[in-house]
Amino acid sequence: MINVRNVRKFYGALEVIKGVDITVEDGEFAVFVGPSGCGKSTLLRMIAGLEGIDEGDLVLNGQRINDVPPDKRGIAMVFQSYALYPHMTVAENIGFSLSLKKVPETEIKKQVDGVAEILQLTDYLNRKPAALSGGQRQRVAIGRAIIKKPSLILFDEPLSNLDSALRVQMRAELQRLHRELKATVVYVTHDQVEAMTMADRIVVLNKGVVAQQGAPMELYHQPENEFVATFIGSPKMNVLPMTATRRDAGKVHLESPLGLAIDLSDANGSVPQGEAKLGIRPEHLKLAPQGQGDFVAEVVIVERLGVETYLTVGSQQQPIVVRAEGDVTIRPGDRVSLTAERAACHLFDPAGRVVRSAQA
Ligand SMILES: Nc1ncnc2c1ncn2[C@@H]1O[C@H](COP(=O)(O)OP(=O)(O)OP(=O)(O)O)[C@@H](O)[C@H]1O
Ligand SMILES: [Mg+2]
Repeated sequence: MINVRNVRKFYGALEVIKGVDITVEDGEFAVFVGPSGCGKSTLLRMIAGLEGIDEGDLVLNGQRINDVPPDKRGIAMVFQSYALYPHMTVAENIGFSLSLKKVPETEIKKQVDGVAEILQLTDYLNRKPAALSGGQRQRVAIGRAIIKKPSLILFDEPLSNLDSALRVQMRAELQRLHRELKATVVYVTHDQVEAMTMADRIVVLNKGVVAQQGAPMELYHQPENEFVATFIGSPKMNVLPMTATRRDAGKVHLESPLGLAIDLSDANGSVPQGEAKLGIRPEHLKLAPQGQGDFVAEVVIVERLGVETYLTVGSQQQPIVVRAEGDVTIRPGDRVSLTAERAACHLFDPAGRVVRSAQA
């Protein structure tokens, strides 16, 4: 188990990790996700011991390891650039750390064969890296890490050099590998789809702070702030500026400049009056028969994906994305009536903090 406790990191006067608390349980697949520059790699390198920690505690299995050197931590790291030794075969690359430790040849061969089998590299053991595909090279890099039998494996954007089909395949392979090795994994990516598909626990980072951490569907359904709400999920959650007023007890009345006016339940009166932002996902806006929806808008873009179609409606200043059936006959220029699913509406205050979550 890893505990990151109030950890901070400065580069000169610049604070890049601003008091981060993260817990990863034993055996979990944790994904750190966030936009470029938010501090993901820095945090991972601090866990690996490649960067110093300025403040706070890093605890691994109950032991504070801030000052333990990298090679004594029992942690392996796989980088985006696999940096294989070009003059060595796959087998020599995978076994290199064992030959450094003067492990006997027969034992190295046995362990390399075992790792190669898990990674489906058995047929390639005698090749040099130049004669491998990108996915195979990535698997060799993973092999080099797991042969050390680490209890914790760190990955920094390991799939970003691969084409999209191979990325999807490697996502599945990494999940299989995680099950087979029973190791704890911390995986860094800027891609929320990778985070959603692979993680037991997602940690969303924004500008050096944890925006939220939890299970993928927890973040999807109950985002604590506008940042997480719009970062997780594709297409993004729509966020519409509204004015909130309280007319009846237990309810809040919302109006937008677009002509949308709705009442939402607000049992404990947590929604302040005044400016508010309504968050609603594309799948929670439904096409309604003419004259029956909450508002009418013009369709500007129609994107057909086969099983579903995304409509962009409204103005350029305030586009709204709506998920429709794959075979809808709507075309750009049409006017559509739309209904917002009340239970699925989120409300954020002007600072982006959630003041009303979607109702389960
Ligand atoms: N050695 C350094 N000196 C000064 N600033 C640094 C140094 N390394 C990183 N930074 C800064 O720290 C911040 C976090 O960097 P980091 O590499 O952790 O981001 P990241 O989330 O991994 O981004 P990306 O998705 O682009 O890899 C960035 O603003 C970066 O410019
Ligand atoms: Mg990075």
